[in-house]
Amino acid sequence: NSYDLTDQAAIQVLQDTFSEKKLLTKTFVFVFPYRRPGEPPLIKGWLPYLGQGLNFQKAPSAFLKTLQKQHGDIFTVLLGGKYITFILDPLQFQLVTKNPKHLSFQIFSTKLISKVFSIEMMLTNQELNHDIHVCYQYLQGKSLDILFETMMQNLKHVFESKLLKTRNWDTERMLTFCTSVVFEITFTTLYGKLPDADRKKFISELRDDFIKFDDKFPYLVSGIPIKLLGNALSLRKKLTECFTQENLAKMQGWSEVIQMRQDTLEKYYEPDNSEIGAHHLALLWASVANTIPTVFWAMYYLLRHPEAMAALRDEIDRLLQSTGQKKGSEFFIDFTREQLDSLVYLESIVLEVLRLCSFSTTIRFVEEDFALPVESGECLLRKGDLVAIFPPALHKDPEVFEAPEEFRYDRFVEDGKKKTTFFKSGKKLKYCVMPFGSGVSKCPGRFFAACEMKQLLVALVTYFDLEIIDDKPVELSYSRMLLGIPHPTTDVSFRYRIKHFTS
Ligand code: HEM
Repeated sequence: NSYDLTDQAAIQVLQDTFSEKKLLTKTFVFVFPYRRPGEPPLIKGWLPYLGQGLNFQKAPSAFLKTLQKQHGDIFTVLLGGKYITFILDPLQFQLVTKNPKHLSFQIFSTKLISKVFSIEMMLTNQELNHDIHVCYQYLQGKSLDILFETMMQNLKHVFESKLLKTRNWDTERMLTFCTSVVFEITFTTLYGKLPDADRKKFISELRDDFIKFDDKFPYLVSGIPIKLLGNALSLRKKLTECFTQENLAKMQGWSEVIQMRQDTLEKYYEPDNSEIGAHHLALLWASVANTIPTVFWAMYYLLRHPEAMAALRDEIDRLLQSTGQKKGSEFFIDFTREQLDSLVYLESIVLEVLRLCSFSTTIRFVEEDFALPVESGECLLRKGDLVAIFPPALHKDPEVFEAPEEFRYDRFVEDGKKKTTFFKSGKKLKYCVMPFGSGVSKCPGRFFAACEMKQLLVALVTYFDLEIIDDKPVELSYSRMLLGIPHPTTDVSFRYRIKHFTS
């Protein structure tokens, strides 16, 4: 049993064993000398397998920035058994996404969902893979308008049933609060409602199990077998079983995207195959895992920046007035998607939060030895390695964003309009904030996520007085490394009280 890695604590022991204090009294950066001509410099570190994993995990951006100064914009790093070639120059990002024949997203992603969710058929069945992706069109266009309306109703329900009941100050932990609200709104918008008797219990159990499973996510991604991760296997089984035929039938009012996903799955699987539930769990994970911390960081920055809160409230008030909506004690907000999208400060705040907090990295698998045509000539990539676009390097680049470490709520507003033009080396950048990935793997739920974040922030700042209680800075936790939006290292307390409106 002493070899049984039961949970994060055990992994922490492993990490501590190789920690700075015990082994890395100096930073050893070892450049592996045996490279073929044309290959980027390789930075291995001297720890077998882990390579530079621990240095990277401590502060990914700072670590890569140091390497960039030493080796230029393109170099390979050994991280947890994987050789990853990083491309840090935003003007060369498209090299990776424009070469799908040699640099495969599918091989990387299907391996990942097999490890994390135990979905095996995607590894071999191209048609299923294709058909699953076709379903994502129902997260856009007219389908998104329907989702937006349903989401607004679900937001209203959550506010009326939980939040608007408070009369005095209520204190909550911010991440716990965001998790509860985002989880319920997202789940009911996608999967519909359960009978009233079951609803509360089902959703809170699903959410609590989901959070415990999500805690194991980085370890599953890094390839640690699920059996070594304590109760991760039983949690995954339980979560998957929430989407059995019987349970799915109880959910009334599926969105189009879920209806299409289920129809597609039924074409490929027997009705009682547990992989159907695993596909639903994967989508549920994708739909909340990044939205929750993003809403957290947005609330956190808003509450710590009164000038941002004031600008946002003012902008919402003007929209309420121009649409003839009166403030009152009932849930009164009723905005369309276009109206929310016209709020330039709201958009800027969301973008600024994503600029500061997103670590979403676009990763591709090198299918064959391949010469990537880069600005300085050719960059030889080895079969089996990974290539990564790392947008945080762009997000924190002082040449692109003045004072990049600061939260500036109006960074993306210019002359009262959305500011979209940013430059590097005198050249206009195609994208300046990239939280949703790029190319074929660009997040299909990005519009859904934007709607949800905007609806929720507007409702929170309109209905409540909000105050942060723990007014100390909170750090990003890098345990998820390259995967989306980091959680905070600690949760923070805040209090909220319903606003009293005079009519
Ligand atoms: C702030 C919130 C979100 C962020 C930052 C985010 C980010 C991302 C990123 C970076 C990827 C690409 C991963 C890769 O390249 O391997 C991705 C994929 C994906 N996202 Fe999101 N996402 C968010 C919200 C959502 C929502 C709300 C949904 C669904 C309603 C969703 C559904 C998906 C799906 C299904 C994929 C996989 C696409 C594929 O396999 O090609 N995401 N997301």
